[in-house]
Amino acid sequence: MSRSFGKDAGYTVGLFFLPWVFASMLSYGQARYWGPSYVDPSFAQRGYLQPATTSSRTASSTRSLAATRDQVHPAAAPKAGRERNSGALRGVVAGMTSYVAATAFGGPEALSVLNETLGEPGPGEVRLRVHAVGTNLVDSKVYSGAYGRDVARLPLRIGYEAAGTVTAVGPEAVGPAGPISVGDEVIVFRAPGAYAEELLVPAGAVLPKPATLDWNQAAGLMLTGVTATHALAATAVGAGDTVLIHGGAGGVGIMAIQLAAGRGATVVATASPANHALLAELGAIPVAYGPGLADRVRAAAPGGVDAALDLVGTDEALDVSLELVADRDRIATIAGFSRGFGAGIKVLGVAPGADNGAAIRDAARLELVRLTEAGALTVHVQQTFPLAEAAAAHRLLMDGHGAGKVILVP
Ligand SMILES: NC(=O)c1ccc[n+]([C@@H]2O[C@H](COP(=O)([O-])OP(=O)(O)OC[C@H]3O[C@@H](n4cnc5c(N)ncnc54)[C@H](OP(=O)(O)O)[C@@H]3O)[C@@H](O)[C@H]2O)c1
Repeated sequence: MSRSFGKDAGYTVGLFFLPWVFASMLSYGQARYWGPSYVDPSFAQRGYLQPATTSSRTASSTRSLAATRDQVHPAAAPKAGRERNSGALRGVVAGMTSYVAATAFGGPEALSVLNETLGEPGPGEVRLRVHAVGTNLVDSKVYSGAYGRDVARLPLRIGYEAAGTVTAVGPEAVGPAGPISVGDEVIVFRAPGAYAEELLVPAGAVLPKPATLDWNQAAGLMLTGVTATHALAATAVGAGDTVLIHGGAGGVGIMAIQLAAGRGATVVATASPANHALLAELGAIPVAYGPGLADRVRAAAPGGVDAALDLVGTDEALDVSLELVADRDRIATIAGFSRGFGAGIKVLGVAPGADNGAAIRDAARLELVRLTEAGALTVHVQQTFPLAEAAAAHRLLMDGHGAGKVILVP
């Protein structure tokens, strides 16, 4: 599978990304952060597209990630083992903190480490020391040029989700789970520019970190989790159903398998053979994608398939879903938009005519925390990279055959 914004990058860009971007620009005037809101509709609706240059931020220098290691800002330099997550790097340069942004449009080589000074949190804001950052394919699309190449948008901050410790709170800093205090261990989701050592975020983005997850896992819980929850809700997957999940070893797929199994469904999931053991461990019947897929699914699910989730956007995923599932209201895609619309199935995300699932995704955040704390859900981390090696992390993401989350460690 070629790595793309699903199969329909041009479509998604042209039809549903730009309206959100322009709305965000109008809201924020000089905002430099342009993020695709497809990752979570209410992210944009709530005005959380925080610019890189708010009054409390000042970017002061830029260093290329292509620089040799000892040229990289010391606060972003890779450290061995647990120290990466210990918070010990903070304050290497007094008052300064590092973040990753694209200083040009293009591939991962466009990413650079920049420094800024973070101010104190204002009303309804929270500052945190970041211990781990969740990466998503969409992060690379932000700076790819697929959404335009207006240099006024540079440097372009990237990232949506992270986990860390609260270091300061402004007045009335109340999150979805209640008041937020210094020292709280949290997940931030819909946290624009999350590729950073430290962040200022709206309290509404702050969720409790489940004690059952380490920092790296916690950073990768939300985006894939809310998307999988939405897909299962849209197709009404429940006890007694058999659901076919295309792309079961991906970040969204791993969440969808666990959540579907937790609802009492039988899950048949596709992956390359190397990931079949993982799928079985998660509770799915693994099948290989590729020619003959429909027959392999029939063999795995002799009683038939009630619902299907396309999490990869390939023609094969849609064709097999249409062949095996009688009710098109029980087929959903998160990645094959144009074909999805044409086939009359559920198209999930932010696009004209698509189901943005804002209410479902909102409600899913605390439910994901609850399920994880109850031991019913976990996050699989494929690989970690130092924050300063975000470009290498993105190259891995774009490979398209990962099994779980790719995490950055400041
Ligand atoms: N609409 C939304 O709200 C929304 C939200 C999040 C993500 N997305 C999109 O959804 C897609 C999946 O995201 P993700 O984060 O789960 O990606 P991911 O973690 O990179 O996973 C992609 C998975 O696709 C599998 N794969 C590759 N080629 C395949 C093929 N031909 N058939 C079936 N599976 C194949 C890979 O499995 P193997 O390694 O086993 O090959 C890999 O595990 C992306 O296109 C992303 O942009 C949409």
